[in-house]
Amino acid sequence: METPLAAIPLRGMVIFSGMIHPILVGRDTSMRALEAHIEHNTPLVLIPQLDDAEEDPTRARLSQVGVLAQVLRVARLPEDHYRILVEGMKRVRITSPMRVVDGMNEVDGDLLIEAVDDPIELAAVARQAATMFQEFLLQNGMTAEDHAALATPPAEPARLADQLSGQLEISQDDRIALLNEASLLRRLERLVELLAVALAGQRLTAEVFAKVQGQMDKSQKEYTLKEQIKLLRKELKELTGDDEDGDQFEQRVEDLNLPEKVREEATREVRRLDRIHQDSAEYTITRTWLETFLEYPWNAVTTDHSDLPTATAVLDEDHYGLEKVKERVLEYLAVRQLNPGSNGPILCFVGPPGVGKTSLGRSIARALGRSYVRVALGGIKDETEIRGHRRTYIGALPGRIIRALTRAGTHNPVMVLDELDKLGNDFRGDPSSALLEVLDPEQNSAFVDHYLDVPVDLSQVLFVATANVPDQIPAALMDRLEVIELPGYTEEDKLEIARHFLLPRQEERHGLKTSSLRFTTPALQTIVREYTMEAGVRSFERQLATIHRKVARKVVEGKTSPTVIGPAQVSKFLGPQRFYQELAERGDLPGIAIGLAWTAAGGAILFVEAAKMEGKGGLKLTGSLGEVMKESAEAALTWLKSHASLYNLDATAFNVDIHLHVPAGAIPKDGPSAGVSMVTALASLLLGKAVRQRLAMTGEITLRGKVLPVGGVKEKVLAARRAGVDTVILPRHNHMDLDDIPRVLRRDLTFHLVDTVEDVLAFALAEG
Ligand SMILES: Nc1ncnc2c1ncn2[C@@H]1O[C@H](COP(=O)(O)OP(=O)(O)OP(=O)(O)O)[C@@H](O)[C@H]1O
Ligand SMILES: [Mg+2]
Repeated sequence: METPLAAIPLRGMVIFSGMIHPILVGRDTSMRALEAHIEHNTPLVLIPQLDDAEEDPTRARLSQVGVLAQVLRVARLPEDHYRILVEGMKRVRITSPMRVVDGMNEVDGDLLIEAVDDPIELAAVARQAATMFQEFLLQNGMTAEDHAALATPPAEPARLADQLSGQLEISQDDRIALLNEASLLRRLERLVELLAVALAGQRLTAEVFAKVQGQMDKSQKEYTLKEQIKLLRKELKELTGDDEDGDQFEQRVEDLNLPEKVREEATREVRRLDRIHQDSAEYTITRTWLETFLEYPWNAVTTDHSDLPTATAVLDEDHYGLEKVKERVLEYLAVRQLNPGSNGPILCFVGPPGVGKTSLGRSIARALGRSYVRVALGGIKDETEIRGHRRTYIGALPGRIIRALTRAGTHNPVMVLDELDKLGNDFRGDPSSALLEVLDPEQNSAFVDHYLDVPVDLSQVLFVATANVPDQIPAALMDRLEVIELPGYTEEDKLEIARHFLLPRQEERHGLKTSSLRFTTPALQTIVREYTMEAGVRSFERQLATIHRKVARKVVEGKTSPTVIGPAQVSKFLGPQRFYQELAERGDLPGIAIGLAWTAAGGAILFVEAAKMEGKGGLKLTGSLGEVMKESAEAALTWLKSHASLYNLDATAFNVDIHLHVPAGAIPKDGPSAGVSMVTALASLLLGKAVRQRLAMTGEITLRGKVLPVGGVKEKVLAARRAGVDTVILPRHNHMDLDDIPRVLRRDLTFHLVDTVEDVLAFALAEG
């Protein structure tokens, strides 16, 4: 040929005419040759190297014959290589040594001239070769139906020779020899020889294989088949250039130690992913499912710390006081340790906000060395929130339980089911029935989430529940729970918690040193009394955080002297006082009594106000009172009317309209325990006598004037003290609850136990 040819020396392969094959081009001079071909149409010749080991193409010994090539596709790889797909065209005899010109390989060459063979001999040998080739393909596991095109050898002898040369498993030297052979007859003769060897080898392998196969058991066979499938799939991927996700998924599923049924399901999905088109919606669904599936911590577990002293230390480190609660937790842990499979009840911490229910859960996790997750149940109305949506749903997700476990990263975490009492339900199904299954040891070893749709073992999860009020917990769930009450803290408790827990934590969070900020005890008291009104310590901590934040700012602005917070400084940082001890404000007018209520937020004091006006004996009730409370008001009035003579009230005293109001109307109030305060307010009003100062009361009344016991005494007493009450009237039957009340409270408060309404009035309306 007149012009020089751009050359790419090939290592370890020979491209024959008609053969399409990918090649990796990475050596500089070869890449330049390729570029010259692409940019300037310089003819490109592929020349096999005689010595594969030679890295430097310019020093390599090359075959005398190469092949002109057509480049079908070019891809530039990131690591500065080309991957090209070439088709071999015509053979070229190389007539010069290879040289480097402008950085590229260059040779001279002419089209190879074929020798002239005896046509009859040629036809006979070609037929022979074709028959053997067909046998070879069949032996190789290809059937004529499957691969008609491949299995039917080309009729034209030259094409047959090229195809055979490319396809037979023969040595590189044999290939180069075939490439260099100018006579078609001699090429075919050589190929017949090579085919004979290949067929003999094949027969031998088949025999050995049959023999070995007899010995293989089913699982080995399965293994071999799987390996073969993997290989084939990989080859297919390389050919089509698809990404390798399928393989990765398969490997990842295999690497997990899964229960048989689960593995089968996952493998089925991996297979499916391979079969469906990447752009289809189903592909995305299946892929997302697989990813979610693989994220689940199937095999991740932690080993529990087993010594109780450490657990005790951790619980004490995280929480002040709460002795009874901690004791119960330790007993619980001890039982679990002795009998890991025990189906004990599930601990449920019940109490007002901010008393440490949720954080106790975290502490239990730390004590055991387990991971911790919290599932907020507040406001969940729908079963699918717990159990997930079917995966065909648009945007489907697993339920909260599975998501929580995925977040935990282990399948034996401590899981806090927070705010169990706020669980709702509606027409979309009852979430509590799904939760019941989660908590039931009989069923939870094979919990099926709608989305994952494979059984998941929840039996190793340590569930802990929390709630503000026990009576809102669905009854079926209540059955599985052991309720542990956290009643709320006294002011003294709060100061201790602040000193040992809240202040150190805030200091650390705000990067302050103890030396730069100090609180006096009266300051802390002021914050508790005048800036918070709560059973727990949450808003107390928030107030402390506010002060820390402001001090931190001062420090950054250059203040170096330590800040000492006394009671006077508090309002500088927190603004005007938020809560007043309301008692002082109410004065001593007749018709006002103080009741004690027990709400989800802990105890609270409740004012019951009565007023009269001209009328005919009507009773008007306001302040969002529930049915039961309204009935107590009626009962209170009836009792008074029927015992009017005891108090020297004549019939005309009741010829008025009475309005009974319980302020703070936004808070719904119900329950019978305001009975005594209602009767007291009414009697006080009608008798024109003010109720004893700083007195609060609780108790249900009957029409006959008996005072019945009530619940939540400790909460109520704590609230009374917070509000500045010094005397509390309690039903006599509640005297046992007094044992639970901390000594500091008993020191500050006087308790007056009563049996009847008469006792109440005698005490409440006595001249102080
Ligand atoms: N006894 C205690 N010792 C130390 N810190 C406490 C104690 N009690 C509560 N705290 C702290 O008070 C904060 C509020 O507690 P937590 O969030 O556990 O309250 P909760 O009882 O779950 O309230 P809610 O009912 O509102 O969820 C936490 O930072 C917790 O560490
Ligand atoms: Mg909580």
